[in-house]
Amino acid sequence: MYRTKIDIKIDKIYLSGELMQFNKSIVEIITKRRSVRTYDVTKEVEQDKIKIIKESMIEERTVGFRFDIVTFSELKSRKERLGTYGFIRGAGVFMVGIMNEDYGDRKNQSINFGRIFERIILKATDLGLGTCWMVSTFNRKRLAQRISLEDYEHFAIVSPLGYSALKKRPVERIMRQIPKSDQRKPWEELFFHSDFKTPLVREDTGEYSIALEMLRLSPSAANTQPWRIIKQNKGFDLFVSKDTRGERHVIDCNYNDVGIAMCHFELTAEEIGLTGEWKIDPEKNNVLGHKMEYVSTWKII
Ligand SMILES: Cc1cc2nc3c(=O)[nH]c(=O)nc-3n(C[C@H](O)[C@H](O)[C@H](O)COP(=O)(O)O)c2cc1C
Repeated sequence: MYRTKIDIKIDKIYLSGELMQFNKSIVEIITKRRSVRTYDVTKEVEQDKIKIIKESMIEERTVGFRFDIVTFSELKSRKERLGTYGFIRGAGVFMVGIMNEDYGDRKNQSINFGRIFERIILKATDLGLGTCWMVSTFNRKRLAQRISLEDYEHFAIVSPLGYSALKKRPVERIMRQIPKSDQRKPWEELFFHSDFKTPLVREDTGEYSIALEMLRLSPSAANTQPWRIIKQNKGFDLFVSKDTRGERHVIDCNYNDVGIAMCHFELTAEEIGLTGEWKIDPEKNNVLGHKMEYVSTWKII
């Protein structure tokens, strides 16, 4: 199932494209990003970098979400500052994403949230900082002592922010080995042509092969990689292979994951000059069963 190693070459693309929000090529940033769970306690995140990230949080602010940064540097020990159950070590700064439960429909909100928070994660990567999406391995009560929530709000996501330690802890290695975090499913399990029976041939996708490859490198909860693509004549239909255990937060995670995938695809397309946009095709919406659910179509313009 996880045969394909991540092995993308970036030098060819690096020179192309007008880079708007990022200093480095988005292909380089996406390729470099990894979840970091052990941070260098001797290296504080510089205030100017925190300022840049805060500014991008303001830029990305939209109805229904808000983002914040919480710093624990006044405490002496960095051990368990936020209550991350030992999964994160050494981080003194955390980015927090907060969702308004009353606003909009949950599916689209969760997708959009994934899309926007991933842009902030990539911005942090661009600045040389490590991050890690976390929906479950943090203590919500402890966080609530630092950031107050309105009744209608909940913490949707937390990510440490800092410099990766050179030496990884055994627990971090295990956290990567179990979900096979260094690997992604092969193309033929993710990308199709016309229907879910016909794998998409990479050579038939032209420059879009780069955008698809960047989508394939997306992080996802427990590395489940629930995104699927069917190429049609004029675009790419995006589906989510939903975890059918039905727990609310698991489904929200699946939707965050597809939002992240959309973010990688659209930023890469923009960088290499491929014009298009995500649009929901009402005819395709919910035509398939409850496991494979249609999300949106990238319409080539
Ligand atoms: C929506 C989402 C939720 C995640 N939740 C957690 C979490 O609670 N704890 C954790 O240690 N990692 C979490 N991760 C990180 C994934 O395990 C990681 O992205 C995946 O294994 C791929 O590894 P990579 O990010 O290094 O490429 C989450 C990732 C995503 C996208």
